[in-house]
Amino acid sequence: MDMRLIIYTGKGGVGKTSTSAATAHRLSKLGYRTLLMSTDSAHSLGDSLGVDVGCEIKTISKNFDALEIDIIHEMRTKWADIQKYIADFMLSQGMGDITAEEMAMFPGMEMISALFYVNQFSEEGRYDVIVMDTAPTGETLRLLSLPEVANWYVVRFYSMFKKLMSLARATVGKMTSIPLPSSEVMDSIDILKDTMQRVGKILDDPDRTTVRLVLNPEHMVIKETMRAYTYLSLYNRNVDMLVVNKVIPEEAMETGFFSEKLEEQREHIQYIHDAFDPMEIRLCPMRKTELRGLEMLEVMAQSVYGDGDPMEVFSDSSPMGFDTVDGVDMLILKMPFVDIADVELFRVDATSLAVRVGSQKRNIHLPDSLISAEILGADFKDDELIIKFKRE
Ligand SMILES: Nc1ncnc2c1ncn2[C@@H]1O[C@H](COP(=O)(O)OP(=O)(O)OP(=O)(O)O)[C@@H](O)[C@H]1O
Ligand SMILES: [Mg+2]
Repeated sequence: MDMRLIIYTGKGGVGKTSTSAATAHRLSKLGYRTLLMSTDSAHSLGDSLGVDVGCEIKTISKNFDALEIDIIHEMRTKWADIQKYIADFMLSQGMGDITAEEMAMFPGMEMISALFYVNQFSEEGRYDVIVMDTAPTGETLRLLSLPEVANWYVVRFYSMFKKLMSLARATVGKMTSIPLPSSEVMDSIDILKDTMQRVGKILDDPDRTTVRLVLNPEHMVIKETMRAYTYLSLYNRNVDMLVVNKVIPEEAMETGFFSEKLEEQREHIQYIHDAFDPMEIRLCPMRKTELRGLEMLEVMAQSVYGDGDPMEVFSDSSPMGFDTVDGVDMLILKMPFVDIADVELFRVDATSLAVRVGSQKRNIHLPDSLISAEILGADFKDDELIIKFKRE
């Protein structure tokens, strides 16, 4: 069986870490070899689990391992060649050394490292499932847009070099000789690229990787979640569940004082349904008392999954599909909450199209059959962008 990957994401403080930990706990109880992995540099798995976790894999209980990605540790080990090259480069330009700590400050590094682990464990067959708890940043979303991430990091490193270059100019007045990247560095870069491509395949497979969005029944959080869902669909990620956390139980609010709040919450939950149905939506109540450790994990898993199996893929369709009707080929992109006015569509070259929504762009690689087809136009129907082609 292919390794399953379940990614939790969502705004700050909504309950991603608690939900991830509870899910991993449930999976391990069901007998799956489970790894809970955090890519948030402000690690809090330990708080949820009630035990300290660290940058090395730690066994929490039977079938249950946990890992908090520590990018400084990763830099010193896996990225040592690239880091050394950059350090040499800095020295050659008469500047000080750059430390692993400084390199670790580039955003998204935890996520890249996490994806390396995903690839490694998938190949080793060491786990049945990885549950990933992510940081509440735009970078997380962007990085979920693999396989484009293979390019993302190239652009990142490139712009970093450019910055270093201009720094060098400012410091030494003229460019001195720049050390050429060694073959080890080039190898590292090749491995990086290669790995990212393989991870891209895992993320692209809707039966293996699903994203679960955690939110609270609050206006701003719902809006943000809708946005995230659009982008994830655009990137072809399979979002298969919404976990609405911290729902205040009705009986708790019925006592006069909170009755307005109760009405508001009902409206918000209705709004979530209007926006996301038929998606799987699970409500998780606000806990009366602060629970930690095992007790919290069990209560939460029960709220979200009942007696069910989190391994299940709760949606049956991938956000992108193809269809042919009356000789017209159609590329169908699920794009909820998008205004047609915000969508731009253009042909990049014979083999690819670009769809732009707001500031985000997605390149779609066309299947061979559509490479030389003419684009007839695009339509919006039931949250789907339908791009029509006529083959020659
Ligand atoms: N259903 C709930 N009832 C009561 N408290 C909760 C519930 N879910 C989470 N919490 C509490 O809310 C806080 C934030 O939860 P958690 O750390 O899981 O969120 P997060 O989305 O991972 O946050 P961050 O974005 O900071 O990583 C924690 O103190 C947690 O104990
Ligand atoms: Mg968290």
